Amino acid sequence: MNFKITLLPGDGIGPEVVGEAVRVLEIIASKYKHTFTFQERLMGGCSIDKYGSSLTDETLADCVASDSVLLGAVGGPKWDDPNAKDRPERGLLALRKGLGVFANLRPVKVHPALIDGSPLKPEKLKGVDILVLRELTGGLYFGFPKGRDVKDGRERAVDTLEYYDYEIKRIMKLAFDLAKGRKKKVTSVDKANVLESSRLWRQIATQVGKENPDVELEHVLVDTASMKLITGPASFDVVVTENMFGDILTDEASVLAGSMGMLPSASLGESTVGLYEPIHGSAPDIAGKGIANPIGTILSTAMMLRHSFKLEAEAVAVEKAVEQTITANARTADIGGKLTTRQMADEIIQRL
Ligand code: IPM
Ligand code: MG
Repeated sequence: MNFKITLLPGDGIGPEVVGEAVRVLEIIASKYKHTFTFQERLMGGCSIDKYGSSLTDETLADCVASDSVLLGAVGGPKWDDPNAKDRPERGLLALRKGLGVFANLRPVKVHPALIDGSPLKPEKLKGVDILVLRELTGGLYFGFPKGRDVKDGRERAVDTLEYYDYEIKRIMKLAFDLAKGRKKKVTSVDKANVLESSRLWRQIATQVGKENPDVELEHVLVDTASMKLITGPASFDVVVTENMFGDILTDEASVLAGSMGMLPSASLGESTVGLYEPIHGSAPDIAGKGIANPIGTILSTAMMLRHSFKLEAEAVAVEKAVEQTITANARTADIGGKLTTRQMADEIIQRL
């Protein structure tokens, strides 16, 4: 099969990890007789530097016209000025919105060989296999009004947490569908004791739950959920939540896996064009050193193979190779080893 992939390596360690993930995709293409065509574009700080915009209309159009998008990371101290009119993060948000990818899948699994890398007690980590489904194109990130003004002589800042019923419904349906292929449990996380938007969230979760009686549904308040992620992470299966709660909870959940460098993500919408990215950031402190862990990005390509291209066997092959590599004690610095980004990718490629 033939697929066109837009690469957005971005800033910091982004280009290093994306480069290795492309090598993995090339091996898959030749082994399974597919053709992957890559086109590289700028997004984030590098795009601000070159074009004065974190995401140009042309780049967005190229992404929309491709079969999927692989992103490294965006941001860095160079573009951190709070008064700047554009920021790398704005490009990422505009890309998510422009692609219509409302569902962000962030799986968190703990590899047995990495249990010691986590600050949690080993017995708590046994059997941890969580899929966080974060709503990605609504909520506080996108609601209006938004901005700053002066009111009654006071400087004021406003963000709006807004959700429409259809936005909640479509992600809730996906949560139940995904749960059916797993342990058949959905945890809907909200703040329904305080927020109106959360009461709508809970109402729709309950409705969709009734339509899916074979899946267990529980409602958990976000503060309690953040605690339970540490005290009993193995009790979760699919966790579905709004944008901001999901942003916070997934960073927390990533600690379970020992390193953020290990974790992939997929952002999906109504079409098959998906956005795939590791959950870690641009890591400016180690950028250019060639020591970043490429696994989060490589596992993101496995998600691309599965969700956008429907190539399940190929996806499993990549995941198996990563698993065997970890079992064989190959380690980059973030998980206690000395391998470079390239060497880690070589270890994985050898096992493909
Ligand atoms: C993430 C990141 C982004 C977000 C930032 C970089 C805008 O933290 O993907 O989790 O908040 O969504
Ligand atoms: Mg985040």
